[in-house]
Amino acid sequence: MTFTDIFDTDVVGRWAAPGRVNLIGEHTDYNDGFVLPLAIDRQTTVTVGRRSDRLLRVASSFEDGVQEASLDALDPAALAGWSAYVHGIAWALGEGARGVPASDLSGAFGLDVFVESDVPVGAGLSSSAALECSVAVAMNDLWELGLDGPALAKIGQRSENDAVGAPTGIMDQSASLLGRVDSAVFLDCRSLDAEVIDLGFAAAGLELLVIDTHVEHAHATGGYVARRASCERGAEALGVSSLRDLGVDDLPRAAEVLDDETFRRVRHVVTENQRVLDTVRTLRLEGPGAIGSLLDASHVSMRDDFEISVPELDLAVATAQATGAVGARMTGGGFGGAAIALVPTDLREAVSAAVVRAFADAGFTAPTLFVVHAAEGARRTA
Ligand code: GLA
Repeated sequence: MTFTDIFDTDVVGRWAAPGRVNLIGEHTDYNDGFVLPLAIDRQTTVTVGRRSDRLLRVASSFEDGVQEASLDALDPAALAGWSAYVHGIAWALGEGARGVPASDLSGAFGLDVFVESDVPVGAGLSSSAALECSVAVAMNDLWELGLDGPALAKIGQRSENDAVGAPTGIMDQSASLLGRVDSAVFLDCRSLDAEVIDLGFAAAGLELLVIDTHVEHAHATGGYVARRASCERGAEALGVSSLRDLGVDDLPRAAEVLDDETFRRVRHVVTENQRVLDTVRTLRLEGPGAIGSLLDASHVSMRDDFEISVPELDLAVATAQATGAVGARMTGGGFGGAAIALVPTDLREAVSAAVVRAFADAGFTAPTLFVVHAAEGARRTA
């Protein structure tokens, strides 16, 4: 299936946006903290035609049918299914977001949008952000809105929060829009200052291996929402506007004030922020071969304090660590999805085989393993 099988308008361009892997800094973004994700060489592409009316018509290579909505009647409450990620961006552009003025779409023309993607869905690699950001850069260009990457990231987050209904942070869209080849995006989620950090994996003989457990997760419900609420409770009890305002030195006081569970949630966020800063410093001073213990400690914190891991992720991480990975951790929101392992290139096959064997022995669904490279963020491709 291609654009021309479905639509009869002329193609005016193609735009692409990548998925992401988070190297470190999990559940810190909505706490105004630090994250260090990278855009990956798996992307979503939209091929777009210009319409003479005000309809936004959306189709994809992975599902039959065309979903349409008028630019004059974008109601976030009525958007459903994956096309909500497309229509929701137009809605959010018209509404604006924190610090981003509403765009005047009264003169905007309708679009035919055909979506293709090789970002696995449900693996915790931000297939939704890839879709949102490819659509956002296309609309921004075609409707000449003049928004920059950080503004489009906020529009993407607004759409995900209020049109799709998942209360996620700003990390995934920022990575998808601001990523650079061989680099990670070091983002301060309070100021939204972003810095590109060299990874240098290949030069150090390392590769980033993704282990997709195929355990499904969803952020609109359940654990993600509950963890956010715990963080807000903890911040309030400690008298700060967000957990970003706490450092490791504040933890003894937090232990006295908070119940055990809330304390452990807070401890994860506070120590994870510190690990992001330590990882950035270590990458700069010593290179990627020295960040393994930080990745490992991040996983322990997510498993034991934040309690967002699952047995499949723990097994993937432990097996990779035991068979030669420099470091490993689950990545993304948790409760399923993928783990990452930083592995010496010459051990990749052995680590992969060991993980596959360990999953079979445990009776788990076979994982999918693949190497990702840090890639360029969202852009026009044709
Ligand atoms: C999901 C969300 C992000 C972030 C991560 C956890 O990927 O979309 O905003 O909160 O979980 O770090």
